[in-house]
Amino acid sequence: MKKIAVLTSGGDAPGMNAAIRAVVRKAIYEGLEVIGIEHGYQGILEQRFQPMTLGSVGDIIQRGGTMLYSARFPQFKEDAVQQQAIDILKKHNIDGLVVIGGDGSYRGAMSLTEKGFPCVGVPGTIDNDIPGTEYTIGFDTALNTVMYSIDKIRDTATSHENSFIVEVMGRDAGDIAVWAGVAAGAETVVIPEVDFNVDRLIQRLTKSAMRGKKHSIMIVAEGVMSGHDLAKLLKEKAQIETRVSVLGHMQRGGSPTARDRVLASQFGARAVELLIEGKQGVAVGVRNHVLVDYDLPEAYENKHQADTKLYTLSEQLSI
Ligand code: ADP
Ligand code: F6P
Repeated sequence: MKKIAVLTSGGDAPGMNAAIRAVVRKAIYEGLEVIGIEHGYQGILEQRFQPMTLGSVGDIIQRGGTMLYSARFPQFKEDAVQQQAIDILKKHNIDGLVVIGGDGSYRGAMSLTEKGFPCVGVPGTIDNDIPGTEYTIGFDTALNTVMYSIDKIRDTATSHENSFIVEVMGRDAGDIAVWAGVAAGAETVVIPEVDFNVDRLIQRLTKSAMRGKKHSIMIVAEGVMSGHDLAKLLKEKAQIETRVSVLGHMQRGGSPTARDRVLASQFGARAVELLIEGKQGVAVGVRNHVLVDYDLPEAYENKHQADTKLYTLSEQLSI
């Protein structure tokens, strides 16, 4: 390994910059050259390569987003496009690639590895939905953003005795919803991993209203239904009035928390070590506070599991 490249792909996540910085600085520390590829896999095809120096990653550790830009590039599923990408990487004398992204990006990385180009994956997504690692870069920041937003919503919900539905991100995963539910003390959490039962929700709301509760906060993960659809359902079935707040892309932005910066730094540096050690087709992760690496397919062939204990706790604490 003499020269490696790094790219960010899929939805951006706060902390991706800290991971890029770690890849670049660790690689240079180890005597490697590093190329930054802009706009994910699309950038390989477009040859959007920039040589990275110690200085090019200065002043980015505290910034959200990704200085290398990200992209969704569906054409990368095609074998011919992947082969073309490998030819371009080889033409630039690049020996290995660090891919920072989610499970879709990991599939791309594995395809390149299977075709003979060594890749290592770094988990970057606010959804925290990559099997094999307990945390992904960006989750903690997004969670804190949601928690502080709900704290603010709670102020007005209390003052006006309103019920609120807060729609959070998570197409297939309820981690943001469940963790925010516990952290912000929401009354109800609706997530994709647990079958939604509107009658049960109405029962819970009615019960708490009967014991004098004047306001409530419900969190719904976007993957189950939109906040507005849930509001409509509650209105139609039980004449329950709610206000809806859709947090949207604000969850993806902002300065990363200390936890995300540290995790991203550890993951980025470890990814470089793995390439130097000759490992490929693997992803880095963390389990029980220990850094691990495992085969990329484990991340996308297995299903993400919700933290059912935490979900149950959120239900128990909001009776
Ligand atoms: P994430 O990486 O956050 O899960 P996506 O699922 O959108 O986000 O994937 C990001 C990019 O990874 C896609 O736009 C595409 O370029 C690449 N990708 C996704 N799935 C595959 C696949 N099956 N094979 C090759 N590349 C893929
Ligand atoms: O995967 C991260 C994520 O933010 C999901 O939570 C969300 O469903 C999706 O990306 C939104 O993607 P886009 O910004 O392309 O609409």
